Amino acid sequence: MGEVILEAKNISKTFPGVKALTNVSITLKKGEVHSIVGENGAGKSTLMKIISGIYSIDEGTLEIAGKKVDLKSVNDAFNNGIAIVHQELVNCQNVTVMENIYMHKISSGKSFMNWRELNKQAAEELKKFNLNISPSTTMSKLSVSEQQIVEIVKALSVNAKVIILDEPTASLTETETENLFKIIADLKQRGVGVLYISHRMEEICSISDRITILRDGEYIDTLDGSCVDKVTIVNKMIGRELVDYYPKKSSGPGEVMFEVKNFSHEKYFKNISFDLRKNEIHGFFGLVGCGRSELAKSICGIDSKVSGDVVLNGETLKIKEYADSVENGIVYLTEDRKTEGLFLEMSVKQNVSALFLDNIRGKFFLSNVKESAQAEKYCSRMKTKCSSLNQKCMNLSGGNQQKVLIAKALSINPKLIILDEPTKGIDVGAKSEIYNMLRELAEQGVGVIVISSDMSEVIGLCDRVSIIHEGQMVGEARDEEINEKFILHRASGI
Ligand SMILES: Nc1ncnc2c1ncn2[C@@H]1O[C@H](COP(=O)(O)OP(=O)(O)OP(=O)(O)O)[C@@H](O)[C@H]1O
Ligand SMILES: [Mg+2]
Repeated sequence: MGEVILEAKNISKTFPGVKALTNVSITLKKGEVHSIVGENGAGKSTLMKIISGIYSIDEGTLEIAGKKVDLKSVNDAFNNGIAIVHQELVNCQNVTVMENIYMHKISSGKSFMNWRELNKQAAEELKKFNLNISPSTTMSKLSVSEQQIVEIVKALSVNAKVIILDEPTASLTETETENLFKIIADLKQRGVGVLYISHRMEEICSISDRITILRDGEYIDTLDGSCVDKVTIVNKMIGRELVDYYPKKSSGPGEVMFEVKNFSHEKYFKNISFDLRKNEIHGFFGLVGCGRSELAKSICGIDSKVSGDVVLNGETLKIKEYADSVENGIVYLTEDRKTEGLFLEMSVKQNVSALFLDNIRGKFFLSNVKESAQAEKYCSRMKTKCSSLNQKCMNLSGGNQQKVLIAKALSINPKLIILDEPTKGIDVGAKSEIYNMLRELAEQGVGVIVISSDMSEVIGLCDRVSIIHEGQMVGEARDEEINEKFILHRASGI
């Protein structure tokens, strides 16, 4: 590993009401993976956005190959060999995959473009990631993970010297993650420096040459990646020791409170039945594309179904649309907070109350006082970090947006909550708090169903796990059966 290719010195950045970074310095060497870790809102993405020309610097300097630069835009950063793959996908949904990858070339104003050649090149690049899609597909038709890979291909296409990956694996499957790590290894060989952000400590420990820890916008330490363990990183990140990561499992589930009978969908699943008992957390595991989310959405009336009944506390419900589901106290927490979950342009408090306005009705109009009180209650329960409840959700850090999404679901005082990948983008400390909160809800008699592709989460948290493979229920794990081998075997259809 060689010379320093990038140096950020004493960087500070303030947004209205928040000091996001205070005097932070880092260096990146040629051919190294330098990971940046920290809790939600610690300032990781802000630092990356400064390095990639999106945000201006309030104080401090940025040097590339020893020369001070003043980046005015993303294009400026591109031209200086810096590319970023964002945490929240910001690609244009209406352009084709090829146009998105080569946006830089296309928008350069050149009059002649060899479209056929560009399509061919794009297809070759996509193949390297085993991504079987045509370059002429519109971005909006792709899944979140496919879009993420296209963004990575796009960053690689500019031949960058510095590549920033902000939580690239949050939406990737295990195979896709392995593919990405191969690409990262290849980039290192070629002398590219990678700035890497993730909340998955296993990943951080396995791929980092160095690890820098931020806490509340301040620099804490830089550790050597080859001789550091998860616990040390986490303790430095949260400034205390993390004990009892998962809460105790249920001491004994009660009677059946919720049943799904013979659920079928034209395309995604067939004849699925299961139940949920009081006080238990019921997990759903299946490989991506197995129909888990579609099942949850059909139960709640968001997606249509061909047949099936939903019974809550002995009563068969008529759920035609999501409003019926909410009315009956069943709430679904989407895995896709950006497009389905939050009104990003609206404030934190408006988002929290958006699901059920009856809670905040005043005599004639909606009550601002009630709305604020409700948001305050649930956001503080979730320990959401925001400058005020009036802050727009788009300006929250990724993990804090996820917390607002959960606060919104809690605001209806649900009888049953179905959470789809609830801890996506959530830091280790906050994850543990969410697990404890879900356990508390279950103990209070709220039904809790958790859909997750995070195997350790499923094993650590759930009292029972239903396993889905290609739209069919292929098994149920209880007690000692809740282990990786048992679950993965069935989930892979073995
Ligand atoms: N454009 C913005 N306007 C106002 N505040 C912002 C803006 N961008 C970030 N912030 C605030 O700056 C702080 C740091 O946010 P940042 O996104 O850098 O956190 P992060 O470490 O990336 O967290 P996460 O792990 O949740 O993604 C947060 O308090 C956030 O609300
Ligand atoms: Mg972030």
